[in-house]
Amino acid sequence: MATAALDRIGYAPAAGAIGMHVTGVALDTPADGETAAAMQQALHEHGVLFFDFGRALTRGEFESFGALFGDLEDGYRLGTGKVDVAANAADPMMDSNKVPMQEFGINKWHSDGTLFDNPPQAAILTCVEAPEAGGETMWASAYAAYEALSGPLQRMLEEVEVLHSSRRLEWMKSDASAVHPAVIRDGLTGRKALFVNSNYTDRIVGMSERESETILQMLFEHVNTPDFHVTHRWQPGYVAVWEQRVTQHRGVAGFRGPRKLRRLTYLGGRPTR
Ligand SMILES: [Fe+2]
Repeated sequence: MATAALDRIGYAPAAGAIGMHVTGVALDTPADGETAAAMQQALHEHGVLFFDFGRALTRGEFESFGALFGDLEDGYRLGTGKVDVAANAADPMMDSNKVPMQEFGINKWHSDGTLFDNPPQAAILTCVEAPEAGGETMWASAYAAYEALSGPLQRMLEEVEVLHSSRRLEWMKSDASAVHPAVIRDGLTGRKALFVNSNYTDRIVGMSERESETILQMLFEHVNTPDFHVTHRWQPGYVAVWEQRVTQHRGVAGFRGPRKLRRLTYLGGRPTR
């Protein structure tokens, strides 16, 4: 039975395959109630949820609102390197002028931390200072990417596992690596999603280098199909939260003026079939 709090929530699709604009959820909504459960369900169904609070959020407001969507991780784990240093400062802030997106592969399609056994489940960003133009964040539906593949290719990918590492990222000197299924199933929706990304997916286990690289490059290109995407332009007070396993994301490295975002990440377990 829907209650008054759930009745106040409004949903409007942001694109054809992914993303939902959500209204009627207050910043101080308790993290243990029916609204939190509804938000987590919506997150897994739509991949990314967008909110507009009309003004930049304080760090405290952002952390309290962020608690609605899952168990927050301490700090900002991204392997090793400059991003960690920038992010673990007293007031963590992603400043794209200090952490160039191209240098860190932030402007290429990826899911965060898939080179770990337990990659983050989700992440949330809020805009503190928006660029004059450009600097959008884009998301791709990994459900739509999987579903658009032919039956024979879907079946082959459902059988294989892929190695994730930092091999394709020159800046990241991480020895971490993990093997995950190439297709995973979301625990809340039961839908299958393509779990192969151009930053971290190194090779398909059991295939020759030539077979693996040919298929992976085709899949990286497949994820770049606009039909699967939503593009989000930032304004102060905008919040976007996304589920990492059923989406991929990238930043648009072309922008004018400052671009400052706060970010939090959510703890996750092992991705499963
Ligand atoms: Fe990322």
